[in-house]
Amino acid sequence: MSLYALLTNNSIVNTILIWLKLDAKKELPAGHWKAFVYNPDKSIQQNAGFSHTPEVEEALAIVKAKLKLTLSTYLKQNDTVIDFGCGPGIYIEMLKNQYQVIGVDVSEQMINTANKKLPTNKFYLGNFITLHFPEKAQALYSISVLEYVPVSQLDVFFKKCADVLTANGIIFIQYPHALSKRDLYYPDRNYICYSPQKVSEVASTYFEVMENKQSYDGRETCVVDLKPYPTASKTFKNGYLLIAKKK
Ligand SMILES: C[S@@+](CC[C@H](N)C(=O)[O-])C[C@H]1O[C@@H](n2cnc3c(N)ncnc32)[C@H](O)[C@@H]1O
Repeated sequence: MSLYALLTNNSIVNTILIWLKLDAKKELPAGHWKAFVYNPDKSIQQNAGFSHTPEVEEALAIVKAKLKLTLSTYLKQNDTVIDFGCGPGIYIEMLKNQYQVIGVDVSEQMINTANKKLPTNKFYLGNFITLHFPEKAQALYSISVLEYVPVSQLDVFFKKCADVLTANGIIFIQYPHALSKRDLYYPDRNYICYSPQKVSEVASTYFEVMENKQSYDGRETCVVDLKPYPTASKTFKNGYLLIAKKK
């Protein structure tokens, strides 16, 4: 991280920006993704931001199985589902025979990659929070994208999810959660590790929270996870999963 980034993206600066609701304007994380360049030397999964270590593969497999189970519990064949932050379309590919999945992503290169693999699928390019959706969906899911939703827009985000869903619509949001008390003070506004308690609180305005648990092992840790999996870098094994129904 550069000295400039260190000075302009720290807990004190970020708390002030969040308070002034300027965190959504200054270096919006979605803006970084707009500039994303697809690397053909890497796999699709790596381009989406996930390694192929056994630990990550295992954690991804658990979330994929849970997503399939949740959708099959609440949806009918051919229902409409929105993939918020679809990236290169890994999850759309997995679900395409059961549901009509609309992919939404702010990165043109991600949408182009997904579109090449799934040429008949519907995609929208743009920031989910400000995009207009002509249709309503029965469910919305999102894997590793909530960390890019600015803190001052978290409520707007959940309201938008409720707006794009039909009555009793379901959200399935997998996100990296707070792993230390330090995370509660937003040290990096370009990668926000939300407290599960805050996520439940904000989502509750529009949704009945059915579960909000560690996405790999099902633990409930509340404000902050004080027993995260030891890792030198961010790993998908440390993550949370919110499943909720529109009120
Ligand atoms: C870590 S990648 C995950 C991609 C995909 N969900 C997956 O798991 O394979 C995050 C994705 O979210 C997209 N994204 C971030 N903020 C967004 C926003 N506000 N609206 C739409 N897409 C967004 C990025 O462009 C990127 O493709």
